[in-house]
Amino acid sequence: MPHLPSRLPPPRTPGSYRIALVCLGNICRSPTAHVVLERRVADAGLDDRVEVASSGTGGWHVGHPMDERAAATLAAAGYDPTRHRARQYDATWPEAYDLVLVMDEQNLADVGGRTDRVGLFRDLDPVGPGGEVPDPYYGGSDGFEEVLAMVERTSDAIVRALPDALAAAGAGRVGDHA
Ligand code: 4NP
Repeated sequence: MPHLPSRLPPPRTPGSYRIALVCLGNICRSPTAHVVLERRVADAGLDDRVEVASSGTGGWHVGHPMDERAAATLAAAGYDPTRHRARQYDATWPEAYDLVLVMDEQNLADVGGRTDRVGLFRDLDPVGPGGEVPDPYYGGSDGFEEVLAMVERTSDAIVRALPDALAAAGAGRVGDHA
């Protein structure tokens, strides 16, 4: 299967859902997605049942706040970027989370490739599914705004899919639930 299905995999524990977002440094893309998705989850009244986390496959920035440009882009759009501290991904994450969404193909290779619960964040992008969230680290401010736009529309799509996932029976194969 090239992409995760638009229906989310069933929860490991019925009634709750844990989503991990992964990039390289955990200071630009996955923190942006973390802040936006967490806010959308709260706005939908699902924050008592849905947990969002993020990490980077690289460890250079562990404990650091978000990249200043990513933080400024979020703040200008009305989000709070100040609570983020970078974490490093490890091999326990795919077993701990219901869904692991990575930003690009290199991240996907670094986490060991696709599974029923591991795929690209933009597999769930309603506009252009299956692409990468491009790394803005070495570019200009346009890159951060592009990332935010992709993240906002994809987070909306994830939140639309969450009620069905929360209502699904516990872990089975993808598609087992009606
Ligand atoms: P991110 O961006 O993976 O979106 O957080 C990067 C952050 C840091 C580095 C590369 C990408 N770096 O090489 O330090």
